[in-house]
Amino acid sequence: MTTMIKKCLFPAAGYGTRFLPATKATPKEMLPVLTKPLIQYGVEEALEANIRTMAIITGRGKRAIEDHFDISYELEHQIKGSTKEPLLNEIRSLISQCTFSYTRQVEMKGLGHAILTGETLIGHEPFAVILADDLCTNDKQTKSASSEGVLAQMIKIYEKYQCSIVAIEEIPKEETHKYGVISGHLVDNSNNIYRINDMVEKPHPEEAPSNLAIIGRYILTPDIFDILKETKPGKGGEIQITDALKEQAKLGKVIAYKFNGKRFDCGSVDGFVEATDYFYKKQKEK
Ligand code: UTP
Repeated sequence: MTTMIKKCLFPAAGYGTRFLPATKATPKEMLPVLTKPLIQYGVEEALEANIRTMAIITGRGKRAIEDHFDISYELEHQIKGSTKEPLLNEIRSLISQCTFSYTRQVEMKGLGHAILTGETLIGHEPFAVILADDLCTNDKQTKSASSEGVLAQMIKIYEKYQCSIVAIEEIPKEETHKYGVISGHLVDNSNNIYRINDMVEKPHPEEAPSNLAIIGRYILTPDIFDILKETKPGKGGEIQITDALKEQAKLGKVIAYKFNGKRFDCGSVDGFVEATDYFYKKQKEK
């Protein structure tokens, strides 16, 4: 029997130092691409994948995220009946369809540690993870192509393989030092599903096992929590999710999926500007 993925974890406790000073008092996840904060795109992607329970890992200075996913009565009252009211439609609809729960990562000990902090919100079931600073979109390129979001695509893969899934992308070899890089073998003839046998966190190009990089979308089985409890700090002194996944990979329990769509690294200024350009052009075309 397949276990449904019902919850999505959003690690959002990082400092966002690449965006200082903007992120001094504003969470990186609240930076807007056009008029929508990054984390709202992430929540929309999760909802599109039929997930309604959002578990958000926050830290100090992240209150704006909680306020965003709450009703602002004063504001609603103020703009009721005006031409501005429709601007709140999308966020209102998200709030009415989803529940949001939060827990704080008290010390920023890395992504793996942030995910472990989420155990109390997730419990013992498989779950999705979205890093909201990786903004993903899948626009219908051809008539026959699907416009399904990346997480929805991954859930289909999970239903077949019933193990942890990571989303991957081909990157230029000189950029391997920014990502977790996998080594694996193809397991289907569509050329986009690999079984992982190893992965390396942020390798130098000459040490990278491939040019297939893990991006900010995961489906994890709950045994990851016990593995994370035993995972020692790795690259950069942080508890790395890639080190924990490596343990699952030793048992053949991690699949990498080359998704359909585009990803923008909105944790970097270049990626953020690209995303803004892309969504602006798309809006103008409407
Ligand atoms: P990043 O590597 O992008 O780090 O984290 P960062 O702190 O957000 O940004 P920079 O590099 O300083 O500019 C990847 C993801 O993991 C989360 C971040 O919020 C981001 O979504 N994270 C990272 C945590 O939640 N806790 C941590 O301790 C580290």
